Amino acid sequence: MEQELEIKSIKSMKDTPTLEDLPGVGASTVEKLSAAGFGDLMAVAVATPGEIVDATGMTEAVAKKAIHAAREMLDMGFSSGIDVYEKRKNVLHITTGSKELDKLLNGGVETTGITETYGQYGSGKSQIGHVLAVRAQLPPEKGGLGGQVVYIDTESTFRPERIVEIATSLKMDPEEALRNIKIARAYNSDHQMLLAEKVEDLIKKDGLNIKLVIVDSLTSHFRAEYVGRGTLAGRQQKLNKHMHILSKLADMYNLCVYVTNQVMSKPDQFFGDPTEAIGGHIVGHNSQTRIYLRKGKKGTRVAKLVDSPYLPDGECGFMITVGGIEDI
Ligand code: GTP
Ligand code: MG
Repeated sequence: MEQELEIKSIKSMKDTPTLEDLPGVGASTVEKLSAAGFGDLMAVAVATPGEIVDATGMTEAVAKKAIHAAREMLDMGFSSGIDVYEKRKNVLHITTGSKELDKLLNGGVETTGITETYGQYGSGKSQIGHVLAVRAQLPPEKGGLGGQVVYIDTESTFRPERIVEIATSLKMDPEEALRNIKIARAYNSDHQMLLAEKVEDLIKKDGLNIKLVIVDSLTSHFRAEYVGRGTLAGRQQKLNKHMHILSKLADMYNLCVYVTNQVMSKPDQFFGDPTEAIGGHIVGHNSQTRIYLRKGKKGTRVAKLVDSPYLPDGECGFMITVGGIEDI
């Protein structure tokens, strides 16, 4: 018996189909698919029938049908320039406290995409994370998004005392500011990836108004776990998947994702520039806005915008202060 499949177009995350919506796919098959690495519709949509058969034991005909349905559901079509233009109008910003930096970013750190800072030890990447975690909570008229924050901390560098300092200087209730930040310590790269996937539950199931997701640092676990050339492809693949999940969150929930990234610590003749970010093209392509941070004169910091699709390249200076970050 053929079952008619109702295919809804994806307009909001609420009616987003999942693997279980595929014909011939129940809970146990979803489990098998996920275990074999086909954890979402996109993975099924781009799989071959043979791969799905191997993963689940279903017949080839059913596998083909599932792949076809996944492709339909994903709405893998084109949008018009107008649609993209309209969508860009919904982009919101979190201001940083530095007018110059906000100007460089055309209003602040923007929703719908990933903003990455990379730079050496002490260049201010985590400090900007703390500042954004507080400022995201400000009402829009004060340059925030009136939202809550997820802080995925991979290096135990989250400092609640710093949140208290920044919130106090913004005349916010520091306890409230801390309460609005959900902190998760990621113990390894798999855990980090899982935490990113769980953010959606916080929004959908727990009803939190998450407007900023921070991953500090994006690459440290991946870098530590995948050493040597043999495993580099595997690392890049996982990093790509992780960033896809973050991008999707940013896009679907109109929120900001802020990630930090290290640079190669020593000059390496094979990889060239000592200020090159970790993660290579994968991280570069997935980050909509990339900022290179370095220490400037007299304790200042310099932010340089790199390869933005919308904004002209440029740089500005700022200072890290008790209250957060400020113009020089
Ligand atoms: P890694 O994570 O080690 O790669 O570095 P990072 O880029 O994350 O550096 P981070 O953002 O932690 O910057 C640390 C620096 O911020 C310190 O060396 C201080 O110079 C500065 N800093 C931190 N807290 C304060 C503060 O309360 N006041 C001032 N003026 N500076 C601060
Ligand atoms: Mg840091």
